[in-house]
Amino acid sequence: MVKLIGGNKIRTAVFISGSGSNLKNLIKFSLLKNCPIKIIYVVSSNKNAKGLDHAKKYKIKNQVFEFKRKTEDEDKILKNLKRNKIDLICLAGFMKILSGKFIKKSKTTILNIHPSLLPKYKGLNTHKRVIKNKERYSGCTVHYVNSKLDSGQIILQKKVKILKSDTPNKLAKKILIQEHLLYPKAIKKLFFSL
Ligand code: GRF
Repeated sequence: MVKLIGGNKIRTAVFISGSGSNLKNLIKFSLLKNCPIKIIYVVSSNKNAKGLDHAKKYKIKNQVFEFKRKTEDEDKILKNLKRNKIDLICLAGFMKILSGKFIKKSKTTILNIHPSLLPKYKGLNTHKRVIKNKERYSGCTVHYVNSKLDSGQIILQKKVKILKSDTPNKLAKKILIQEHLLYPKAIKKLFFSL
């Protein structure tokens, strides 16, 4: 596990694919005085990702890799991680599955945020599935990334009550608000052992 040494902040990359609200939130968090991370590099798997605007606005180095040739793209990203001395990767709405080889070779700590109470509802369309199954609670989870989808060790979770009036969209919005609180909290837990 990467450690916070002296006053040096953890050099962090954020991987996105879409609207990037978690990226925006992590950037704001990283700018706080006592925050343990500094965001150096953003990778998007989608050239039209709105999240790229946040990286540009804050002048963070950003690159698009569409994973059409996964091995080649992963190799290029690995080189850039090394070049930028990245120690931590935060997946935030990143819709590609990183290979076991990438995870091993990156020599970084990799975290992900997933919009369900893992180990329940791994994968896509979580909100639709929890509502269909008449669950009373859903939520979000920050976990370590390993080579199995949404299966790494859990760091923190937040429960959200599902109302009868909730649609998948309404639930997604409620959970996203909690994601924005949970990701910074999980990072602080890791690096400050809170
Ligand atoms: C979040 O709900 C995240 O947990 C999920 O995709 C959504 C992405 O949101 N994997 P954003 O791109 O951070 O706004």
